[in-house]
Amino acid sequence: MPNTQNDQQPGDPNYLVGIDLAGHRVVVVGGGTVAQRRLGLLIASGADVHVISRVVTPAVEAMATSGQIGLILRDYADGDLDGAWYAMACTDEPDTNAAVVAEATRRRIFCVRADNARLGTAVTPATARYDGMTLGVLAGGRHRRSAAVRNALLEALQSGVVTDDSAPATPGVALVGGGPGDPDLITVRGRRLLARANLVVADRLAPPELLAELSPDVEVVDAAKIPYGRAMAQEAINSALIEGAKAGKFVVRLKGGDPYVFGRGYEELEACVAAGVPVTVVPGVTSAISVPALAGIPVTHRGVTHEFVVVSGHVAPDHPDSLVDWPALARLRGTLVLLMAVERVDKFAAALLDGGRAADTPVTVIQEGSLRTERVLRADLSTVAERVRAEGIRPPAIVVIGPTAGFDQNVTRSTESASSTSR
Ligand SMILES: C[S@@+](CC[C@H](N)C(=O)[O-])C[C@H]1O[C@@H](n2cnc3c(N)ncnc32)[C@H](O)[C@@H]1O
Repeated sequence: MPNTQNDQQPGDPNYLVGIDLAGHRVVVVGGGTVAQRRLGLLIASGADVHVISRVVTPAVEAMATSGQIGLILRDYADGDLDGAWYAMACTDEPDTNAAVVAEATRRRIFCVRADNARLGTAVTPATARYDGMTLGVLAGGRHRRSAAVRNALLEALQSGVVTDDSAPATPGVALVGGGPGDPDLITVRGRRLLARANLVVADRLAPPELLAELSPDVEVVDAAKIPYGRAMAQEAINSALIEGAKAGKFVVRLKGGDPYVFGRGYEELEACVAAGVPVTVVPGVTSAISVPALAGIPVTHRGVTHEFVVVSGHVAPDHPDSLVDWPALARLRGTLVLLMAVERVDKFAAALLDGGRAADTPVTVIQEGSLRTERVLRADLSTVAERVRAEGIRPPAIVVIGPTAGFDQNVTRSTESASSTSR
């Protein structure tokens, strides 16, 4: 059995404590990157932070300009800790840091010494904030170890491996954008709420690996398989969300990309609100920008394109339901990103050519972006329709039209994205 009453190891003598610094004077001596990294949390704690330093980084200067901290641009002098409740010695001069700690000790102020933690009277733990909690890890000055454990704890909480059962989610619905498909591209908040769900209603394009991670007691409903006629599908989804929440469940509606980009998210929000069900919206990384980015295409680039337009291709340009001004799009010089456009790509290309867009405008089509199965096809406006048919490109795919679609995509491909492993 571990000794739970006294299991601190030699070398870790510190007493971990949470102190309320709100409104209390904190003096930070030094204004370089070491100080800069600590200032964010101090400011967030509501402390009355004052930096004393001859030279500061632009970020520290900006914090002073915006009134988040006080700044005195000179060397530290004995007496500067007057009135402080907490101090930090963060200069790159050991003698100055020693003098700050000496003054702090004399005045009985706890003081962190950044260049040599053991010579201070307080140490900064590796911390993380998660859902109203603060995690802190100390490892006897072994910073890499404390940071690694902090990261692992945070990831375990975010992914639901460790759950905070004492705080069950309140019944309601969260509309969560799941990103383009790679499970790493959901937001931290989205992942946190997913880990708390009792019921998940998932779209076809919701990242499948995220569903595989859910605990077996979580009910997962495939929205595409809700048994109603096609026209009724959205109403059936709305009912599933409302009924789930009214039965006391925390329901996550997991969508591909962002819930409000051609995702009918707002209709679901309206239905829930009308039924008196509380809704949280968690934006997602939309495929419209991320899929081109992962394939090496920036949707804007300085001096090349000053606009990008995201267009739905679910109806043809001449369809009576179309709300898109194709002649206006044809006159643009920037980037067009077409979603749901594979089936009618010939019609969209023709509309743009008819409206005057150059036939040699670069076009890149990305199928199943961010996934291992990703395919990338490069063409131009005059050849794209024929190439898409010849190569058998299928939905889901993004069609990117404009000068940046012709950039050398090997320059920017991420070495980490799942898709890069498929090439
Ligand atoms: C109904 S829309 C939903 C868009 C989603 N809400 C978003 O923000 O990404 C579906 C279309 O998004 C595009 N799409 C979504 N995920 C994709 C992916 N991983 N690769 C390529 N296209 C994708 C395709 O054009 C697909 O037909």
